[in-house]
Amino acid sequence: MKVTQTPTVLALLAPLAAAYPSWVYEEAAKDPEIAARAESIIKRQEGADAASAVFEPVPVFNAEAQYIDVSEGSGHEWQAPGPNDLRGPCPGLNAFANHGFLPRNGYATIDQYVDVTENVVGMGKTLAIFLAALGATIDGSGTAWSIGGTPPASIAPVGLSGNGLSGSHNKYESDASPTRPDLYQAGNNYKTQVDQFQQLIDASPGGYVTMESLTAFRKQRFDTQKSTNPYFFNGPFTGVLVQPAAYTFIFRFMANHSAEAPKGELSYDVIKSWFAISGESGDYSVQQGYERIPDNWYRRALEYPYSNPYFAGDVTAAAALHPEFLDIGGNLGQTNTFTGVDVNNLSDGVFNAADLLNGDNLACFGYQFSAQVKPDLLLGVLNPPLMNVVSGLVSDLSCPQLQSVDQQLLEQFPGYMK
Ligand code: HEM
Ligand SMILES: *[C@@H]1O[C@H](CO)[C@@H](O)[C@H](O)[C@H]1NC(C)=O
Ligand SMILES: *[C@@H]1O[C@H](CO)[C@@H](O)[C@H](O)[C@H]1NC(C)=O
Repeated sequence: MKVTQTPTVLALLAPLAAAYPSWVYEEAAKDPEIAARAESIIKRQEGADAASAVFEPVPVFNAEAQYIDVSEGSGHEWQAPGPNDLRGPCPGLNAFANHGFLPRNGYATIDQYVDVTENVVGMGKTLAIFLAALGATIDGSGTAWSIGGTPPASIAPVGLSGNGLSGSHNKYESDASPTRPDLYQAGNNYKTQVDQFQQLIDASPGGYVTMESLTAFRKQRFDTQKSTNPYFFNGPFTGVLVQPAAYTFIFRFMANHSAEAPKGELSYDVIKSWFAISGESGDYSVQQGYERIPDNWYRRALEYPYSNPYFAGDVTAAAALHPEFLDIGGNLGQTNTFTGVDVNNLSDGVFNAADLLNGDNLACFGYQFSAQVKPDLLLGVLNPPLMNVVSGLVSDLSCPQLQSVDQQLLEQFPGYMK
């Protein structure tokens, strides 16, 4: 068995090896159980946390390396944001700024985002570069961007600094977020909804939030959007990649690590701190912008960076449980009118729905569609500087090349056009 499985797993993981220390692969390939699991992720049978068996095959915990010191005198004490400090839809970035890991004013460069996401929460470089460069391209100046809205003149030159993450609905910001409302329902897309946080906790019984509970909660949010939001839109990039990130990042980046729980454990208290929630279940309240890294908290091990392949594994595992997550389309201006578009038509024949969970296709599809970012400008559909970033990113993967996008297919959705 081992002999036949080993080459399969290596073949499965090989295109992604650049992002990992080689021993992770060697270890994985030696173990027939991991080999079988790697295969079954692709065969869609393993549950929401399936990818951790492949990407964290042996326990690693090093207290000294993983401890994030935010105590008095550390230089990274929590401070409330001031009136001119920018804060937005991302609780992780808001927390980084509140601790001075990012500039406290909320405006930072690509390099700063890449450094901080790696050092503070163990994000892999390829994912960090992609997220940070995308922010700079679609929401920023090309090299820097705001984690909230448009920066004032005191922070960055007016007119050159971009609109920030909060201003990026459908480019970066997606519908069916965990705790943020949809733009066209609440009039904003960045404020934490206490009722949605309560639903997340209710979907996570027993004191802990897990990959399984987050995926079940995502399904609930997805269905609720279809039935209550006339403008719900599940876009090819925002729906396929940003929306799952908003869920998987909660566990993969916010969980506390220890020798007993090297893959992480996310208690209610820990998630409350990261989301600026206080009070007890049934009586929560939020202080917007006060996101905080808990005291005595240990990040994920850098031996297992949460990078593109791991993230793609999580996205695939969730879609295997709930294939509708991959339905590109939206409501037609009324609730319960969700209409899908044909992926094959949308990509001018390059991708098709039946193959989307095979090999690297899903990641290729989502990342390449991220370059289709300016529906509001009549620019040609694919944004050239961004295509460069994306092609660097997908060079690790074996990707069919997206040449053009039939944008008209999306124009029937008011949530896309608004
Ligand atoms: C450069 C890196 C990052 C970028 C560009 C980024 C950007 C974003 C954006 C645009 C959203 C809104 C998405 C939506 O509409 O749902 C978001 C949400 C989110 N981000 Fe980040 N993020 C980054 C890093 C992180 C990190 C390091 C964490 C965790 C520590 C994190 C955790 C989250 C969570 C949990 C949400 C969902 C919030 C909710 O709706 O409840 N992000 N992020
Ligand atoms: C993280 O886990 C360690 C070991 O169990 C524990 O001592 C620490 O208090 C935990 N941190 C948080 C923020 O829960
Ligand atoms: C895809 O395009 C073909 C050819 O134009 C068309 O016949 C078909 O109806 C389209 N499918 C969908 C689901 O739009």
